[in-house]
Amino acid sequence: MRNDYTVVQKLLHWAMAGIIMLDLFIAQKFGNSMDIADRLESRADHSTMGLLVLTLFVIRLVLRFVYGVPKEDGTSPLWQVWLAKVAHGLLYVLMGLLVASGLLTAMSATSPIEIFGVIDITFGRMDGAIFDFVRQFHEFFTEVIIALVIIHVVAALYHQFIRRDNLLLKMLKFRRF
Ligand code: HEM
Ligand code: HEM
Repeated sequence: MRNDYTVVQKLLHWAMAGIIMLDLFIAQKFGNSMDIADRLESRADHSTMGLLVLTLFVIRLVLRFVYGVPKEDGTSPLWQVWLAKVAHGLLYVLMGLLVASGLLTAMSATSPIEIFGVIDITFGRMDGAIFDFVRQFHEFFTEVIIALVIIHVVAALYHQFIRRDNLLLKMLKFRRF
């Protein structure tokens, strides 16, 4: 068993963290009233980035099965080891639910959503009520993942600055020196 994530796993972690947070930032304005042209353009940008996240997510899942996770260094109490496993598992589940519900929301939209400005991914212009129904799940999963990411970041800072085991630096280290 390895004692660190592979460079590709680390790159994927940080790339996805960055894109998810950026996409979340773009999506903040959907909650407010918007000019319709702006909303449709923002939906297309948001969905295109979301599909990029979906692609990276699939690659990351495959790599997790291929390379697994680093072995425990044996310094943490068992309950913390399990808590980290559960938290990481939940982050994967939520990333999956977020992109899947986003895709379903986009497919049920009543106006075209063109990915990369070219491919319309809506599914035959459904009823606005269906769009609103699906969208509330997407919004809910967004809220849950935000809460999980906050806990995750607090845990990373706890390791780095209270336990001082350099877990965060290890995740940021891409070469052996
Ligand atoms: C990267 C992960 C994603 C995050 C963090 C995210 C976040 C959000 C948020 C916060 C909203 C606004 C919810 C509301 O206020 O009602 C939203 C709406 C939406 N999202 Fe996502 N989303 C993601 C992925 C996706 C994907 C993969 C798609 C489609 C392929 C998508 C399509 C949509 C659509 C169509 C809306 C509704 C826009 C509107 O109300 O006009 N999202 N998303
Ligand atoms: C959308 C944001 C994020 C998500 C979804 C996320 C998800 C994950 C997941 C699932 C893992 C387990 C390793 C893997 O399979 O890749 C992980 C590890 C890690 N993450 Fe994040 N992460 C996010 C943002 C952050 C941020 C902002 C930080 C730093 C402040 C951070 C620090 C770490 C560290 C240090 C590890 C290694 C933990 C260990 O080895 O036990 N993550 N992250």
